[in-house]
Amino acid sequence: MYALPFLEVPPLASAAGTVRLPGSKSISNRVLLLAGLSEGETVVRDLLDSDDTRVMLDALRALGCTIETDGEALRVRGLGGTLATRSAALFLGNAGTAMRPLTAALAVLAARQGGRFELSGVARMHERPIGDLVDALRTLGCAVDDLGQSGYPPLAVRGPAPLDTQRPIRVRGDVSSQFLTALLLALPLAADQGPITIEVEGELISRPYVEITLSLLARFGIDVTREGWRRFAIPAGSRYRSPGTVHVEGDASSASYFVALGAIAATGAPLRIEGVGHDSIQGDIRFVEAARAMGADIRTGANAIEVRRGAWPLRALTLDANHIPDAAKTLAVMALYADGPTTLTQIASWRVKETDRIAAMASELRKLGAAIDEGPDWLRIAPPSSWRSASIRTYDDHRMAMCGSLAAFGGVPVRIEDPKCVAKTFPDYFETLFSVVRARPEDVPVIAIDGPTASGKGTLAAEVAARLGYGLLDSGSLYRVTALVALRQGLLEHDPLDAAAIAARAATLPLAFEPGRVLLAGEDVTDALRAETVGLAASQVSALPAVRRALHELQLSFRRVPGLVADGRDMGTVVFPGAQLKVFLTASAAQRAERRHKQLISKGISANIASLRADLEARDLRDSTRAVAPLRPAEDAHLLDNSSLTIEQSVDRVLAWWSEHWSVGAPRPGG
Ligand code: DC
Repeated sequence: MYALPFLEVPPLASAAGTVRLPGSKSISNRVLLLAGLSEGETVVRDLLDSDDTRVMLDALRALGCTIETDGEALRVRGLGGTLATRSAALFLGNAGTAMRPLTAALAVLAARQGGRFELSGVARMHERPIGDLVDALRTLGCAVDDLGQSGYPPLAVRGPAPLDTQRPIRVRGDVSSQFLTALLLALPLAADQGPITIEVEGELISRPYVEITLSLLARFGIDVTREGWRRFAIPAGSRYRSPGTVHVEGDASSASYFVALGAIAATGAPLRIEGVGHDSIQGDIRFVEAARAMGADIRTGANAIEVRRGAWPLRALTLDANHIPDAAKTLAVMALYADGPTTLTQIASWRVKETDRIAAMASELRKLGAAIDEGPDWLRIAPPSSWRSASIRTYDDHRMAMCGSLAAFGGVPVRIEDPKCVAKTFPDYFETLFSVVRARPEDVPVIAIDGPTASGKGTLAAEVAARLGYGLLDSGSLYRVTALVALRQGLLEHDPLDAAAIAARAATLPLAFEPGRVLLAGEDVTDALRAETVGLAASQVSALPAVRRALHELQLSFRRVPGLVADGRDMGTVVFPGAQLKVFLTASAAQRAERRHKQLISKGISANIASLRADLEARDLRDSTRAVAPLRPAEDAHLLDNSSLTIEQSVDRVLAWWSEHWSVGAPRPGG
């Protein structure tokens, strides 16, 4: 999916429905590490399946953990505190939640048991600081080597090395709370001879993430005591014990996009978000309070949230966002719809995330027409006085992409560059978004593909739709289903045909389209529709104006976000005359006859090329000269002779036209 390096989100109008959240990234990676260090087996349910969890799983496997899928769950057999391998090179992508705790855990394990482990990531990971954690590990006695720039990954940890667990271990808390989290997760490995104390230097930021760490440690048998947020103690003799089964809650940061969506656009029925609620252990659940303060109408249950638009425009505010560093990014986009400037403060940690999020947010929101001021640890957003369509750069930061999509309610389309970056935490984000939003039909892009029979337009249309993540309308199948029903009910035996009776059936077809299947009142009629008798009958019923009218509304209803590929003879002329791209296939009769011949032979059906060609030519003539919906290209159609093109080449040609089309109207990236 997302064949193009960008995704166009048409101007959106409203939202309603239910979404189910993917598992929490923070919980998933902590649970995986704890399960990997524990004795015994842990069954993990509802684990997030994303880039960041995949690198953690790969790392645990490389370290010798056995990980098996068991239906929907994952079974992790832990190391029980003993290294199964003494050397490994771990690639951790851009996952801070894997890099920091694995560095700490492997540093302690190597010190105790010997070995050497390398940890590296993508280029951006090598710009994200880890020096404060490394310093803390070194004072403990661990051997940590910088393999690149000092204070940043890549690095290596090795041992054996004597550890001094008597003195408190000091760690800075004001750059990233992940340093403290990493020590808390790793130090139970060294608490066999006595308790270990950690002292935090500087003001501890992002405390809710430390609370997640403490809560999960408790589930794995480690009861950390703390004095305020300054001193933490790991009791002597701590041992990780598998709790048996762990359910991962939905991701509260991911929930923020849908809470914002409801606040902006759930003007009728609410938007329901399942997977987190007021019982959540994730700090970002407090985004709900911030969204309420901006005017959202929110009800929370233990494990679900329902949101409606309340105040409109939203209310501008000034907020210390230290407690919700990730979700606060979503507030910056909500601020575009507020009644004045919104200021977010205490967000210095944004500068060391997947990208410098303050700078990135400022520059992308400006493109939309917002007035932005920024400081070292704050951001002020004044809503656009007039919205501009923009191409949003995403900086390999999943949150930029998800936030950017919420800017599509300003009445202009937005383009999201590199949409695949959402795979870091929410691989199905756009599909989930599109399942609950509506646009005015005329704003939804349509690609109409037509051509003579056997030109390969059905295959081309299905492939283009799949590559763009668009819906598909195979209008021929609507005529075929109508024909099938008419045949079964004996309606084609009348002469002249009772057009009104057939049209009445067409207007109320109990149809459902599934990938690769057509269901008629629950019956799979996919194969029945391809029968020659049905094709002939379809050609008859499609010549009846009453039937064409009856199917018109049904065809229009396929025009839904994010876009539609419509295949059939009058798609670009009658049904979607405003289609943004129209393609007309023009393969020669000789070529088409040859293709059909091959197709039949491969199915074991004997056929004669000459008579196939004569049939096709006769049908072309009939189709192009018939009074009702004759086969002819729309005036503004792109003609595509695919006689000597493979399907792949035809698809590429259409996609190239499509991206050209967008680049005409849309601002250039970065512009
Ligand atoms: O593309 P197909 O072979 O599945 O189409 C079945 C019949 O319906 C064929 O005779 C053409 C006709 N048709 C039509 O009249 N208008 C459309 N939009 C699509 C198909």
